[in-house]
Amino acid sequence: MRRKLGLAAACTALALGLVACAGSGAGGGGGAGSSAAPAQELLVGVSMPTQTSERWIADGDSVREQLQAAGYQVDLQYAGDDIPTQSQQVDQMITQGADLLIIAAIDGTALSSQLQAAAGANIPVISYDRLIRDSQNVDFYVTFDNFQVGVAQANALLTGLGIKNADGSQGSATGPFNIELFAGSLDDNNAFFFFNGAMSVLQPLIDNGTLVVKSKQTGIEQAAILRWQQETAQRRMEDLLTSSYNDGTRVAGVLSPYDGLSRGILTALQNAGYGTPQNPIPVVTGQDAEIASVKLIADRVQSSTIFKDTRLLAEQAVVAAQAFLGGGQPNANDTTTYDNGVKVVPSYLLPVETVFADNINSVLVDSGYWTADEVASGQNK
Ligand code: BGC
Repeated sequence: MRRKLGLAAACTALALGLVACAGSGAGGGGGAGSSAAPAQELLVGVSMPTQTSERWIADGDSVREQLQAAGYQVDLQYAGDDIPTQSQQVDQMITQGADLLIIAAIDGTALSSQLQAAAGANIPVISYDRLIRDSQNVDFYVTFDNFQVGVAQANALLTGLGIKNADGSQGSATGPFNIELFAGSLDDNNAFFFFNGAMSVLQPLIDNGTLVVKSKQTGIEQAAILRWQQETAQRRMEDLLTSSYNDGTRVAGVLSPYDGLSRGILTALQNAGYGTPQNPIPVVTGQDAEIASVKLIADRVQSSTIFKDTRLLAEQAVVAAQAFLGGGQPNANDTTTYDNGVKVVPSYLLPVETVFADNINSVLVDSGYWTADEVASGQNK
């Protein structure tokens, strides 16, 4: 038998000090009767989408370090946001004898044949952060509470506008405020969760006239930015300013689901003359606490971001991997939300935190995610 799953790794202390066999998080029961193979003989394939965004580099590094700390061999690959490259990398991991796959997909629907091959070879597949859709062969999903990310982004927009206070209570501003909406890449299942979560908060305020989407582009298809590209977001913001704000009106807020998009949006706004005392920069949200954006938040240019601690996500992926490799099943904390079109994938969801200028230190620096120096320079050192 090619499969050599073992319990050896199940009680290995991970880099973050968590002991997988203690049963916390996604770590499930070890497999009774599984043949013991030392972790050193087991290979985990880790497929990440791109290195153009800092978060995926951090994810890849954390997953690799924590798997290695648990004794496994790791094959980490980045696909440069190119779907055929990712398919080929996953194919190669399977032929090279991977015992388990951890995959953050570029296009959530594009890996069905690879996953079929993985299932044929009895290789468990963990979908990492982004749900892999339309396949029976996804065994587990580790992610953040993606609907809540959208809710938090919308609340951060309202807080920035003064409609709400940071504690959620009613603020003093009443509007009406002009806002514009951006969404992520439509081939990423998360984009829908973020947008739907945000709209669950914003739609009632659009309906009662507190918020006005002047462009009338309120559908996710209109708001979407393919592959989460910063330049595409900048262009769309430029187009919105030309088409809807050339009559002397100003945009007061922009819902942006990712820091890279936020930076493109802010560039378009600054190029159009926003960012002076007479014409202040609109409230722009974000996600991922990328260092360049954290600095923009400290400098009061970007209003907020949503922090997703990739170290903790990596930890849950490793805990789930250990459960599978030990012949057991990981523990899910959500078994209803993530229907991938074929089945509801058992999931482990992590919470998120909203970051404004005044809690950068307590949330990002105190936790060691960024140093004070990095925040001051806006660079990852
Ligand atoms: C992730 C976000 C990220 C986005 C762009 C999404 O799938 O959940 O954290 O901002 O991809 O990389």
